[in-house]
Amino acid sequence: MKVAVVGASGQVGSLLCRVLDEDSAFSCVPLNHAAADVTDLEGLRQLFRELRPSAVCSTAAFHNVEECEKDPDAAFRVNALGARNLALACRDVGASLLWFSTDYVFGGDKADRTRGYTEFDPVGPGNAYARSKLAGEQYIRSIWPEHFIVRTAWLFGASGSRSKGGNFVTTMLRLGKERRHLRVIDDQVGSPTSTRFLALQVLALLRTERFGTVHAVCTGSASWYDLAREIFRLARMDVAVFPVSTEEYGQTVPRPRFSVLENYVLSLEGMNRMPPWQEALERYVREVLG
Ligand SMILES: NC(=O)c1ccc[n+]([C@@H]2O[C@H](COP(=O)([O-])OP(=O)(O)OC[C@H]3O[C@@H](n4cnc5c(N)ncnc54)[C@H](OP(=O)(O)O)[C@@H]3O)[C@@H](O)[C@H]2O)c1
Repeated sequence: MKVAVVGASGQVGSLLCRVLDEDSAFSCVPLNHAAADVTDLEGLRQLFRELRPSAVCSTAAFHNVEECEKDPDAAFRVNALGARNLALACRDVGASLLWFSTDYVFGGDKADRTRGYTEFDPVGPGNAYARSKLAGEQYIRSIWPEHFIVRTAWLFGASGSRSKGGNFVTTMLRLGKERRHLRVIDDQVGSPTSTRFLALQVLALLRTERFGTVHAVCTGSASWYDLAREIFRLARMDVAVFPVSTEEYGQTVPRPRFSVLENYVLSLEGMNRMPPWQEALERYVREVLG
């Protein structure tokens, strides 16, 4: 199966290309930003007509939350209209589209926190980034039925996020070397997720025609504070971590206080292969520290 990966040099894109290359059932065509710009509809159409992929996976996004709030036009151009362009170009050539979305489409005011949000819970985006990603989801659903919208969250993986300049784990490991004390937010709870396991889950989806919206996160939940403490424990670093609220920390763009996802659809289908976040984190910290 020929799979074109748009946003191939990013955190998820680079690992996705690697796992596709390792699997003889797939042939991967990596497309970086210069090769495929999702804001250029005609360029995408022409490219896909030449490449004739069976599937297109796109990680392309403008997802720095603060930057999106300052420049919502750019967020909607890339995250919403970019998704529409991908759906149109995929429809032209009959390629299925796998597109990554976010836990932030949910508002975070879930009453029952004993389980995470499922694919069937109502959305309620609270910032420009989340609104633009939700608009992207809606375009894809209305244009091209042969899609997988994969909502994921709190990613850590090999290359670090391009637009965020790393990921939370690498940031903590760097700060832990520079400081003995750190203040970390404890009133945002989510689903820390490894890009490696996400990529493997994506490959399992691509082998099927079980189209629609799926949540794909590592199981369990944590606050940023919980995650930081676990990182330092695994790395055997002696850093004192102090819990602070979002307000005390000084984050001003609204983020959901609870955005834990449940891989409900994958579980119903018997396809959930995401491990607990602690297991995935241990593997990742070992990789980073060598
Ligand atoms: N990181 C997270 O914690 C997280 C959480 C939930 C959901 N997600 C979603 O997961 C996906 C992947 O995230 P990631 O961490 O892998 O992001 P990333 O490292 O920033 O990668 C995104 C890639 O998209 C490319 N890109 C940006 N604008 C583009 C455009 N107009 N056309 C084509 N390519 C473009 C970037 O290339 P350049 O850098 O060269 O511009 C980059 O290679 C995104 O859709 C994001 O919304 C991420």
